[in-house]
Amino acid sequence: MQEKIVKMFDEIAESYDVVNRIVSFGSDKLWREKAIKKALNFTKNNPRVLDVACGSGDMIEVWRKYTDDVTGLDPSKKMLEIAKKRFPDVQFYQGFAQNLPFEESTFDVISISFGIRNVVEIQKAIDEFASVLKKDGVLLILEFTKPDKKSLIRNCIDFYSTKILPKIGGIISGNKEAYEYLPYSIQNFYTLNELCKKLNKKFEVKEAKSFKLSPASMIIAKKI
Ligand SMILES: C[S@@+](CC[C@H](N)C(=O)[O-])C[C@H]1O[C@@H](n2cnc3c(N)ncnc32)[C@H](O)[C@@H]1O
Repeated sequence: MQEKIVKMFDEIAESYDVVNRIVSFGSDKLWREKAIKKALNFTKNNPRVLDVACGSGDMIEVWRKYTDDVTGLDPSKKMLEIAKKRFPDVQFYQGFAQNLPFEESTFDVISISFGIRNVVEIQKAIDEFASVLKKDGVLLILEFTKPDKKSLIRNCIDFYSTKILPKIGGIISGNKEAYEYLPYSIQNFYTLNELCKKLNKKFEVKEAKSFKLSPASMIIAKKI
């Protein structure tokens, strides 16, 4: 299953950024900026940051405005090739969230945006995050979460993500299946509350909120 997911990201890597901008109407940039600014309130200046599931480097682009110490990690070779081209001076690692190739207490902040939904062994990844974060380290999660309850707005979002988004994503990337996986994986993922509870053993959640008119949520948590 994990290999299949990574293969899918390898296949859509080339068109990933363009599709992202179009299907989110550019709002993913705003979510990233907001989430990173919030996380910075809980850490020191110029923090040492690890961006897990970095993909083509969209979070790294924002982090670099606030720190000169960012590292990226992703299992997809193709995604990493694009990220390396965009940020030749950043160090990237090919690897999985559930098996991080770093020593204990290395980073001040770990971010993972739209990545944790793809991690098959989430609890193992959370334990790894806690291990490689320093004392008082901060975990920032941006993710599409399942709604607690249905609403008219949520029905519209679901209609868009199940009926329209796979068509647009499929046409641009040539891989409709990959964009059918997105709504499927959200439906089979946790609600925001459930995801917060998963963190409880190793982290104290400081902030958890959903962005308006979107399925995107943000969690900021501190290592206990
Ligand atoms: C939707 S993309 C998000 C990329 C980037 N973080 C962003 O916000 O645009 C999901 C990324 O998660 C990566 N991924 C999949 N399984 C993973 C795992 N087990 N550990 C870490 N990253 C994983 C994929 O290779 C892909 O690059």
